[in-house]
Amino acid sequence: MEPSQVAIVGSGLIGRSWAMVFAAGGFKVKLYDVAQEQLTSALENIRKQMKELKESGFLKGTLSVEQQLSLISVCADLKAAVEGATFIQECTPENLELKKKIFSQLDLVVGDNVILSSSTSCLLPSKLFTGLKHVKQCIVSHPVNPPYFVPLVEIVPHPETDPSTIERTYALMKKIGQSPVKLNRETEGFVLNRLQYAVISEAWRLVGEGVISPTDLDLVMSDGLGMRYAFIGPLETMHLNAEGISSYCKRYRDGMRLVLNTFGPVPEFSGEIEQKINQAMSEKIPSVPKVLDARRKWRDECLTGLAKLKKEMKSD
Ligand code: NAI
Repeated sequence: MEPSQVAIVGSGLIGRSWAMVFAAGGFKVKLYDVAQEQLTSALENIRKQMKELKESGFLKGTLSVEQQLSLISVCADLKAAVEGATFIQECTPENLELKKKIFSQLDLVVGDNVILSSSTSCLLPSKLFTGLKHVKQCIVSHPVNPPYFVPLVEIVPHPETDPSTIERTYALMKKIGQSPVKLNRETEGFVLNRLQYAVISEAWRLVGEGVISPTDLDLVMSDGLGMRYAFIGPLETMHLNAEGISSYCKRYRDGMRLVLNTFGPVPEFSGEIEQKINQAMSEKIPSVPKVLDARRKWRDECLTGLAKLKKEMKSD
């Protein structure tokens, strides 16, 4: 049974984005936050974003801005916010003790059919949910920022999560137009950040060793690897770059192993290399809020255009 009402706990950057994604999918959304001013600014911000999206032709879903806005309400009481919801998405700051406290509060007030889902980027389900009465209904649904434009959601179960919780969460994410992937078990960093950190580490080492400048390093991704990664993953890339995976391995396994064996240790991400990269990035994009915000806006416009292109190209 699909939920028609969801609750979002924490109305910051990610909570707002989830609210918009669910409203675009036709769900009633109740936003809860400990800070009343966050709730007020969330509603204003969502209205502004939806209007801009409508004007640029990128509003999601079949409902109008007003219809979508009418689905979203705010609530300053946790129990009242989750009443009637069959799916709760927690979006509070990345702090284990805080999240554990919130899930234990939720554990006391929810019934046996509600899914308790966390947006955490890196806290393991076994750390978040162990000991809860409703642990079978708990799951991590890790979005990618900004979830409105980047659809991937990593679904990560606790060892005791019921299979039906995984399936219902997966189906719900599909229904609201996101792109869920299931992890069979938890692992540090989940999958997205493990891949991301592998790339960041090698980028850091290459710049640190003076092989390439920071800005050229970024171009290798944005004008090289990233072009195809927006459509096909690394494994399909291998498959297509030869006559299938086995052919690729036959041709390139020795070369890959030779290169991989030259990779260095995990960087410290501090000191001289940090300064060097910071200087290069700050020359290109000064670290002041106005400039960073403008660049983020441009990034989101690029992602919106890419999402449109992917839809046209029917990539999956
Ligand atoms: P944020 O700081 O923008 O928002 C957090 C919100 O939670 C604030 O509105 C705050 O008032 C509220 N809050 C604090 N204590 C609370 C409580 N006890 N009960 C209810 N609300 C409370 O944080 P952001 O960036 O939205 O992150 C939320 C979660 O999403 C984190 O776990 C983060 O790791 C995860 N995430 C963040 C991404 C990002 O790029 N920002 C990407 C993917 C996941």
